[in-house]
This record gives sequence, structure tokens and C-alpha cells, in this order.
Amino acid sequence: MVGWIKLLLLALYLSAMLALPDSQKCSKGFNLKKGKCIDQDECEENYPEDMGLCGKNAYCVNTIGNFYCMCEKGFQTSEGSTNFTAESSLTCKAVCSIDETNHCGNGTCHIGTSGPYCACQDGFTNYGNKATRCTALDCDAFKDTWDLKENVAIAHNLLTQLKRKCEDLTKGEDPEDFDDPDLLWRLLLVIDQLLLTGALNENRKVSKFLDLVESALNLIGPFIDAGRIRRSYAHTELDLLNHKGAMPPQGVAILSTKPVTLNITLETVSGDPSLYPGFASVSLLSYANLETFTDGFFSGINPQANESFVINSKVVTVSVTNTNTSHLEEPVILTFSHLTRGNGRLHLCVFWNASNGNGSWSADGCTAVESNSEFTVCSCNHLSTFAVLMALYDVEATFELQVATWVGLSLSLICLLICILTFSLIRSIQSPRTTIHLHLCISLFVAALIFLVGISRTENQNACAVIAGLLHYFFLAAFCWMCLEGVQLFRMVILVFNTNFRTLYMMTGGYGVPAAIVAISALINPKGYGTQRYCWLNVDFIWSFLGPVCVIIAINIFFFLITAWKLAQKFSSLNPDLNTLQKIK
Ligand SMILES: *[C@@H]1O[C@H](CO)[C@@H](O)[C@H](O)[C@H]1NC(C)=O
Ligand SMILES: *[C@@H]1O[C@H](CO)[C@@H](O)[C@H](O)[C@H]1NC(C)=O
Ligand SMILES: *[C@@H]1O[C@H](CO)[C@@H](O)[C@H](O)[C@H]1NC(C)=O
Ligand SMILES: *[C@@H]1O[C@H](CO)[C@@H](O)[C@H](O)[C@H]1NC(C)=O
Ligand SMILES: *[C@@H]1O[C@H](CO)[C@@H](O)[C@H](O)[C@H]1NC(C)=O
Ligand SMILES: *[C@@H]1O[C@H](CO)[C@@H](O)[C@H](O)[C@H]1NC(C)=O
Ligand SMILES: *[C@@H]1O[C@H](CO)[C@@H](O)[C@H](O)[C@H]1NC(C)=O
Repeated sequence: MVGWIKLLLLALYLSAMLALPDSQKCSKGFNLKKGKCIDQDECEENYPEDMGLCGKNAYCVNTIGNFYCMCEKGFQTSEGSTNFTAESSLTCKAVCSIDETNHCGNGTCHIGTSGPYCACQDGFTNYGNKATRCTALDCDAFKDTWDLKENVAIAHNLLTQLKRKCEDLTKGEDPEDFDDPDLLWRLLLVIDQLLLTGALNENRKVSKFLDLVESALNLIGPFIDAGRIRRSYAHTELDLLNHKGAMPPQGVAILSTKPVTLNITLETVSGDPSLYPGFASVSLLSYANLETFTDGFFSGINPQANESFVINSKVVTVSVTNTNTSHLEEPVILTFSHLTRGNGRLHLCVFWNASNGNGSWSADGCTAVESNSEFTVCSCNHLSTFAVLMALYDVEATFELQVATWVGLSLSLICLLICILTFSLIRSIQSPRTTIHLHLCISLFVAALIFLVGISRTENQNACAVIAGLLHYFFLAAFCWMCLEGVQLFRMVILVFNTNFRTLYMMTGGYGVPAAIVAISALINPKGYGTQRYCWLNVDFIWSFLGPVCVIIAINIFFFLITAWKLAQKFSSLNPDLNTLQKIK
């Protein structure tokens, strides 16, 4: 029995002696050969049944002590990697890619009968070209929230159509009749109509309008085949540049409309190359009269107390395919022609900030790099709608100047009063000529008095307009009486007898003519009376004063020359007598 047990122990010992070195020295993935552990080539060993280790479309790669699987070219795992371990139970599938660099963006790639295509998420589209990436498209701008039905029916119809197309596109449905070549022209026509009918009478509406224009251009742009489109209507002018192709465009684009030129890099137009959707377009749209609807909305600028602004260029919208335009790496350069020559005036480049209240002009991110009286060059680091403002400064009347005005005018008033009293009270000097002097003095006196009291009474617009009208009247009357002086002098020299005016004619000339001029002016343009700063005529209406004054001065010069000529003749007819007198002596 003991012998059996000893034999069993010996056998166990021997088998342990034989088995141990192997399991101690070589770990998994290694084999013992000639007393050494060497790497086990799993790939080689399994080679014929390779498919069993890594599956289809993949090959096995041996490493020291291990191995991994690698997808063949053009294939990848569902996790997007190309190598994986056999334990992960991943398999290699053909890579779905629309081309080498582009992926589907906000969409998923599928392989269809005619190759890979992108199926876009809701709210994204590839504009009907399924082999391009999906980009965002916002249809909010096409909601008819202004109720254009009543105002501009044609705008309402277009909006409805654009909204339907936009929704078709973002829901992955094929838009019908989208290659309607008229769509762009109809858009321009609608813009034209909206500008013409004055439907944009609030800044809120202007903001919506500009949003609509940009969205519509972005929606229509990808469907335009032409490379360059320039078109002008009565109130709009468009320059559009269009690029289609696999690679994003490069270089610089110069777009121009009559009042504005745009210098923009094509990289800015197409945006991030990894997001390039296969097309890029840029448009410059200038509006003939949008500056009148947007003048005065300057709350985004914070002007100083003595500063005010006026828009001094046409308004333009720059619209590009790139949607990330709030901080451009390369600024856009816009060259604006001025509406009025701004000699030495400060010019400010501004953009329409729709998120500032209901919309206002703002200068952030835009600078004037060059400016003269004819044009201003603006550089802006974001896109939208731009214009140039001209700063106007109230020339602050200095105290000395005011005192001088007061003292001067008061002295004149006293002198004129003395003259008036003299001419009207002293009987011995009364004559038609002194009557004219008297009325000239009265007109000047009243004009100066009104000027002194009322020139800056701008609080009440109506009162201010009346003051401006009275000043207009009395200054014109003064000039008319001066004219009568000239005529009277002429008559005294030419018609030696019966030199006197009839009083009625005199009054008509001195007071009636200016009354007629003021009445006609006020009928034609009542708004021309009274400005923001002074109760006087508006700058663009000033010729209703300067015009008559020029005519009166011309008449006076005419009478003066004739009088001087007649006098010269009289003197020369006297001279010979003097000569003969001297000879006689
Ligand atoms: C795949 O390869 C990369 C480098 O080529 C390596 O860093 C990674 O660990 C590998 N993954 C697997 C699962 O082997
Ligand atoms: C669209 O794609 C971008 C980048 O791929 C991503 O950041 C964003 O969340 C996506 N948007 C949606 C709605 O899926
Ligand atoms: C456009 O702008 C760039 C950069 O400011 C400038 O170098 C280039 O000369 C400009 N081109 C034209 C035609 O103005
Ligand atoms: C406007 O006012 C500011 C300070 O109130 C002053 O510094 C500036 O010179 C003024 N500008 C003009 C043109 O009067
Ligand atoms: C937009 O562009 C700027 C500068 O070009 C970049 O820094 C930023 O990441 C971009 N934003 C998005 C959402 O792509
Ligand atoms: C637009 O105005 C809002 C509100 O004042 C402001 O927060 C925003 O920064 C402005 N936008 C730009 C681009 O300056
Ligand atoms: C915006 O416009 C609406 C309607 O015209 C008005 O009620 C509101 O006060 C405006 N908001 C601002 C900040 O001006």
C-alpha cells in the first residue's frame, strides 16, 4: 500500500516538474519553443480562418503578445474607427462619405442606388442636391407678421411661396418648381414695392424687412445657375456673385452698385472650408431710399450732447452663404459715395443692429479707414446692412458772440428807432424819399426785434414756424424798400419832373411783394419754416429767401448803373462849358 502511495507521489511530482516551467515562463500570446517563450502569431495561425478573428473587410495585425483588427481601406467600424480588437465584436462597413473632405454636416450619410447621399435633420437642408452636406435654414423670416396682405399683395404672395419652399427644403421634401428663374426678379420687385409704398415706416419693420431680404437671398442663392448677376430696379440695385464646385472659392471679390463698392475675400463668403456646402454666393444690394426710413434711429451710437447725425450714404445689405459672420477674420471693405459733400465733417461707418430695441444704427465693429468729402471707406468685421453717417456739431455760440449779437442788435434798434421818429415826426423833411426811408427803417426794426426775441424759440414748432415766416417777411420787405430807394433815385435823376411814386404803388412794392413771396413759399412748403436749432428757413428751402434777394440786388445794380451812366452824361455835357469859361478868362 505504502509502495502505491509513493509511486503516485512520484508520478505527481514528475508531472508537476514537467508542466510547471511552461506555465510559469510563457504568458498568454507566447509559446515555449526550445525552452524560450516566443510571440505567438495569432494572425498567422488563424490565417486561413482569418475571417473568424476579424470578420469581413478587415485584416489581422499581430503585435508582441497580442493582435488587433484593421478595417480595409474605405471601410470603418460603426464607431468610426479603423482598428479594433476582436473581442469588441465590431465589424467593418463601407465608409459613407459624399467626398473626401465633406461629411453630411447636420445629416446622416446613406448609401443609395446612385451612391452615398445625405439625409438632413429637420431644420437643415442640402438644397435638393443630396450629395452635399446639410446646413441650417431658418424659415422664420418668411412668416408674414406685418400683414402685408393689405399693404403689398405681391409681397404677401412671394412670402407665402418662399415660406412653403423653405419648409419643403427643411423637411427633406423636394421643393417643387424651385428653379423658377423669376424668383430673384420677383424678390427684387417686392423689395422695390416695399420701398416705394413706404410700408417700412417703423424701425421694427425695417429690421424684419432686412431679415427677410437676407434670408430670401440665402434661400434663392443655391438655385441660381448664373455666375454673376447685376440688375437694377427703381429702388434697388443688385450685384450677385455665385460659385459652384467641389472646392471652396479663393481670392477677392469686388462687387459694386452705383453708390457702394464691396471688397470681400471669398473665404469670408464661403466660410469654414470643413463646412463648405458645395456652393457660395455673395450679394450686394443697395436701396435707393432706405436711408429716409432709417434716419434718426441712432440709439446704438450714444452721441455726445453737441453731436447729431444724419445718414450720408445709401443703405446696402451684404449677404453671403457663410452663416458665421458675426466675427470675420478678414474684414470686409465697403466704399460709400456721400449723398452730400461732407467737407471736413466726421463720417461714421455704421450697421443696422436689429437686436438693439426694435433696430437702430450702431458703430461697433465698423471703422472708417479713409474719408474725404466725396466718399468714405469702411472696414467692418461682421456682416449685415451698412451705411455711413455724417456727424453734425452744434457750433456752441460762445458767450462773447452772444453778447456781441445782443449789443449790436440793440444799438441798431435804438438807431432805427431814432430814424423812424425823425422821419415820421419832423414835418419839414417829409417827402416821398423820406417815406421810403421810414418804411425801410420800420422793416429793419421789426426784423431785428423779432430776430432778437424769437430766433431760438424752438420749443414750440408752430410758433417757431410763425417766427421764421415773420423774419422771412420783414427781411424781404427791407430788401424791397431798398430796391424802391434805388428806383426812386433813378427817377429823380432821369425824370426831373414828376419824380414821385404814388403811395399805393410804393406800399404794394414794399409790403405786398414780400407778402406774396412768403404766402407762396408757405403754401408750397410749410415745413420749410423753422429748423431744429433756429426759427429760420430750412437749409434746402433757403432759396425762397436768397432767390428774391438776388433778384432785388440785381435790379438795384441795374438802376445804379443806369443812374451813374446818366449822371456821367450830365457831367460831361457840363464840362465843355467849364472849358469855354476857362478860355474866356
Ligand atoms: C488604433 O490605432 C491607434 C494608432 O494607430 C492606436 O493609438 C489605438 O490604440 C488603436 N486602437 C486599437 C483598438 O487597437
Ligand atoms: C449641427 O452640427 C453641428 C456641428 O456638427 C453641431 O454642433 C450641432 O449641434 C448640430 N445641430 C443639431 C440641431 O443637430
Ligand atoms: C481689396 O482689399 C484688400 C485688402 O484690404 C486690398 O489689398 C485690395 O487691394 C483691395 N482690392 C481692391 C480692388 O480695392
Ligand atoms: C462737443 O462736446 C465735447 C464735450 O462736451 C467737446 O469736447 C467737443 O469739443 C465738442 N465738439 C464740438 C465740435 O464742439
Ligand atoms: C465663427 O468664426 C470664428 C472666426 O472665424 C470662429 O472663431 C468661430 O469658432 C466660428 N463659430 C462657429 C460656430 O463656427
Ligand atoms: C446690438 O445691440 C445689442 C443691444 O444693445 C447689443 O447687445 C449687441 O452687442 C449689438 N450687436 C453688435 C454686433 O454690436
Ligand atoms: C418696439 O416696437 C413696439 C411696437 O412698435 C413698441 O411697443 C416697443 O416699445 C418698441 N420697443 C423698443 C425697445 O423700442
